[in-house]
Amino acid sequence: MPAAPAKASSPASNGGLFDPAHYAATLGELGAARTLPAWCYTDGEFHRREMERCFRPNWHFIGHESEMREAGDYMSIDLAIGPILAVRGKDGEVRAFANTCRHRGARLIEAGQGTCKTISCPYHAWTYNLTGELRGAPSMNEVPGFTREDWGLIAIRLESYEGFLWITANPDAPALETYLGDFAERFRCYDFAAMRVVRRETYDVPCNWKVLAENALEDYHTGTVHAGSLGQQHSVPVQCSGNWCALYMPQETSIAVLPGETAPFPHIASLEGEPAHGTFFTMLYPNTQFACTQDCLWCVTFHPLGPEHTQVRVAFCFPETTVARPGFAQDAEKYFHRWIIGIEEDNGIGPVQQEGLRSIASVPGPYGPREFTVHEMNKWIIRTVIGD
Ligand code: FES
Ligand SMILES: [Fe+2]
Repeated sequence: MPAAPAKASSPASNGGLFDPAHYAATLGELGAARTLPAWCYTDGEFHRREMERCFRPNWHFIGHESEMREAGDYMSIDLAIGPILAVRGKDGEVRAFANTCRHRGARLIEAGQGTCKTISCPYHAWTYNLTGELRGAPSMNEVPGFTREDWGLIAIRLESYEGFLWITANPDAPALETYLGDFAERFRCYDFAAMRVVRRETYDVPCNWKVLAENALEDYHTGTVHAGSLGQQHSVPVQCSGNWCALYMPQETSIAVLPGETAPFPHIASLEGEPAHGTFFTMLYPNTQFACTQDCLWCVTFHPLGPEHTQVRVAFCFPETTVARPGFAQDAEKYFHRWIIGIEEDNGIGPVQQEGLRSIASVPGPYGPREFTVHEMNKWIIRTVIGD
């Protein structure tokens, strides 16, 4: 006999969107828990609360110090807290600023990476130096009391964690290492400071950011979505302390090339314990994955552009000793090939899930036993957006 139709829960008719009762089933034990209600992936009001509580107060990954080697090298990037500019000064320090002019707020530098001598506004040509001081403001000396010293760029808090750069607009946010709990200690042997970002890719995907982040946290889909490429993967849960979660895939060889291919690069010499024998797929909450295998890592950020629109940013990283090897560019093609196939297959299934989640009849489903990390992340979302 077919199952009776499930009754979709409507937040409007049932205690309001943020009634904890809607989310209690997600917080249960894995075997009995239910996935997030569909509106968490489609509703504008839920999305706004998620931005306020999960994103704006927290740390945002932007890139690696190796991407800004010289004075004037910059990264301009859009985040949930708005456009940000990170630039290396003549003193060698990388600083972050809100990418907004102190005159009438124009964006100073378009999204992307490059080099500049000064930061000059395209609107009325106010000009700032690399440490954010206002150095030129045409005609403003005619304004009584105007002093350039009062109108420097707005500094944004930035921390370098082993060369990886993170920013937050929240002055009260804990130090990044505190926020991430035991992550730094457990991943120290990868020697992130010696990594180099060698390539970046960006994708626009029409689905909620969590659809893609959750997909990056389970191997249940690999036998179908990646049947013709990566193939079925098998991972185990990782016990984490701090604002991150992970799964671990034991395998003695790098999974950053396609199955059946031989990875041409040596393993990172300092790896020990589990990192030497497999791959970690992490999620540094809310939205950044460091996928760490034995010879490289790739960083994926799921940047929300709206409830049903995500920008996926990927940075491909190798140790600097690997980058210096003769024939690196040619050998690295094997990795890029595998990465881009995998990412595009994942980006393809996300909108399929999103379309189904738009059904008015959609109700939360059961997690499978291989979706423990999705469940972990969903619990973090609920605790952050709704409370315990
Ligand atoms: S808004 Fe930048 S100089 Fe006017
Ligand atoms: Fe995948």
